[in-house]
Amino acid sequence: MKTVTIQGNRARSNILIGERLENLYQYVPVSQPIIITDVNVQKNCPMDSMPGDIITIGTGEKIKTLKTVKDVYTQLVSLGADRSSFIVGIGGGIVCDIAGFVASTFMRGVRFGFVATTLLAQVDASVGGKNGVNFNGYKNMIGVFNQPEFVICDPELLKTLSEREILCGLAEIVKHAAIGDIDLFTFLEQHHENAGALDSQIIERLVLDSVTLKSSIVSRDETERGERRILNFGHTFGHALEKVMGVPHGEAVSMGITIASALSVKRGLLAVEDEQRILSLMKHLKLPTRVESEHEQLFDALGKDKKRESNFINFVLLDGIGTAVVEKISLEELKDAIDEKIRPK
Ligand SMILES: NC(=O)c1ccc[n+]([C@@H]2O[C@H](COP(=O)([O-])OP(=O)(O)OC[C@H]3O[C@@H](n4cnc5c(N)ncnc54)[C@H](O)[C@@H]3O)[C@@H](O)[C@H]2O)c1
Ligand SMILES: [Zn+2]
Repeated sequence: MKTVTIQGNRARSNILIGERLENLYQYVPVSQPIIITDVNVQKNCPMDSMPGDIITIGTGEKIKTLKTVKDVYTQLVSLGADRSSFIVGIGGGIVCDIAGFVASTFMRGVRFGFVATTLLAQVDASVGGKNGVNFNGYKNMIGVFNQPEFVICDPELLKTLSEREILCGLAEIVKHAAIGDIDLFTFLEQHHENAGALDSQIIERLVLDSVTLKSSIVSRDETERGERRILNFGHTFGHALEKVMGVPHGEAVSMGITIASALSVKRGLLAVEDEQRILSLMKHLKLPTRVESEHEQLFDALGKDKKRESNFINFVLLDGIGTAVVEKISLEELKDAIDEKIRPK
């Protein structure tokens, strides 16, 4: 097992890579924690014999709302939860986002930790202390920065994931490699087949390198005043496509990476050969790179981006593979990119 630590402003977070779910109670400071999970995770991960109460939520991006948060608060009250309670979110990014937000706000905050059960949650969503929900069509609009005390990344739990879910995690790993780790990028190029097949040694290295990169950025800029913004690479278009096309987060991010790479070439930052390297890696990993979407709807969704400042969006571009920069891109330039790069639907 390897431990990566994030030093947040208020708390430390230990990310435990290769730790097992059955050792969870070594890290929980109470004998009866309250577990928040979703229906699929409950079916796939052994948690029936775990001490404590279980709150089960539904699945899908549409349940990542204040309504679900309210339902969970109601159950916490009826379970008699108080400030000494400890919450464990066991699930993918949605469970972690909800559990982290609930724990941070219930009775002004109770202690919490995560068991990340999807590849995407292990390499990204559970790490870094952003916890939030969607609001009125705006993605992750309501939320807090607050670090979980621990995150268990158990590779065994990934075995029940569908291929589609695995691909979503791989998209975030490509993102991390592209913005900050050329060695990880090369490693992915060399091992793409084994990565897709969930070879445990390869996956552990991918999770470790991704978590190490994200943790170091978060430790330097926890509340996203500057450098942390680069973690949004591929996500400006990604979030808009996720909403308009209704595809899973990771697939949308993969398409978002394609467009952001093309814009990086257009701005003279990324060599065409490097753009080709990125596209070819994504194709080898079976990640979607072709984007087809209704142009006007997509442009509207882009306008709702949180990183928008009047007519500009702070957009993450690549200055070569392994280096990211944030530049202001006008809405007009984005409109041109949509017309040039995206097939109309
Ligand atoms: N807070 C952050 O910093 C951050 C970062 C990246 C993404 N996110 C968020 O994460 C979410 C996406 O996360 P996700 O891809 O993990 O989605 P998810 O939580 O919806 O999980 C995907 C699906 O897999 C199922 N599942 C989970 N673990 C399983 C297992 N071990 N076996 C079988 N099925 C399992 C879930 O029930 C769900 O149906 C998005 O809402 C995104 O905004 C947050
Ligand atoms: Zn993401």
